Amino acid sequence: MRTQVAIVGGGPAGLLLSQLLHRRGIASVVLESRDRRYVEQRQRAGMLEQGTTDVLRESGAGERLDREGLVHHGLELRFGGAGHRIPLTEMTGRTVTVYAQTEIVKDLVALRLADGGDVRFEAEVLEIDASAPSVTFRHEGRVETLDCDYVAGCDGFHGVSRPAVPGIRTFARDYPFAWLGILADVPPSTDELIYAHSDRGFALHSLRSPKVSRLYLQVAPDEDLGAWSDARIWDELAARFATGDGWRLREGPITDRAVTPMRSFVAEPMRHDRLFLAGDAAHIVPPTGAKGLNLAVSDVTVLARALAERYETGSERLLDDYSATCLRRVWRAEHFSYWMTTLLHADPEADEFARRLQRSHLEYVTSSEAAATTLAENYVGLPLA
Ligand code: PHB
Repeated sequence: MRTQVAIVGGGPAGLLLSQLLHRRGIASVVLESRDRRYVEQRQRAGMLEQGTTDVLRESGAGERLDREGLVHHGLELRFGGAGHRIPLTEMTGRTVTVYAQTEIVKDLVALRLADGGDVRFEAEVLEIDASAPSVTFRHEGRVETLDCDYVAGCDGFHGVSRPAVPGIRTFARDYPFAWLGILADVPPSTDELIYAHSDRGFALHSLRSPKVSRLYLQVAPDEDLGAWSDARIWDELAARFATGDGWRLREGPITDRAVTPMRSFVAEPMRHDRLFLAGDAAHIVPPTGAKGLNLAVSDVTVLARALAERYETGSERLLDDYSATCLRRVWRAEHFSYWMTTLLHADPEADEFARRLQRSHLEYVTSSEAAATTLAENYVGLPLA
């Protein structure tokens, strides 16, 4: 078996890379360890930078996104019982779009398969040879080897690609909290996202459609989901979003719930020989900045361009720059995500001094145009290098 680019992992990064390569006439095989249903159901964030929607559109995956994606021009920071709008579009000229990652995955799988793309589910990668190069995997009970020119490691934080980079350096931060996320069949109580800080902890009001709300609560890292009845979840959300002006949170049936750990993580470099890491395989951000999927998309955009240049001209210049190009953007997003996280969460270990500083920081970001613009330009995404 042979292809040009072997792609390990069929999440958004791997599938989009395969699609971008296909549009440039480059062949790939996607090997995904899970089954198709799992990949298309798992809940993740859903806030897309304008650069991300541009790439999805260019790749041919923009049709349903353009129909169903909800374009946003601002967000709200809420604390001390009052809301403060950050006018993202007014400040940056750019918009963001709410469209769930699971929907992007469904669109990309359908598109690849319709184009005769080779996407193999339940294909367990056993070994990556970054020099030969090749990928050995088990599929339908047989062990096979896929020879290739390049390997793209898009298999997430727990995947096998990153361990195949010898001497890789890693940088990490864990946070003393996690997010309890729910999906609920209830119209959103807001048109724009609300990031709320209170002494009880952080809460986020997001949405999926005019009829489905997505909400999150800061909880302990080892939080027991069993301790959270529907009533307790709604009561806690209402308490954290409470304002002095009678704003009310609409409640409805909860259809999905999960606890997500919060972590910052970067691995350097993102390349070893002919193996290139992309997305969560190389870096993790806490979800407060909504950067995870956007970073995965920018990685594979850079990689697709570099591979296209290599196949069209023979030049390896962009491939040689791949890791450094991506890491500049990754570290900016790491800082922004860390900054948003510490700005908005209630740190159980913080003393009174730290709490006063945090309150001052929130007041500054919501009263200074310069400070608010810093948030806005990072949130909508800085231009791709
Ligand atoms: C989401 O809609 O799931 C979402 C939105 C913004 C975030 C995180 C998650 O910062």
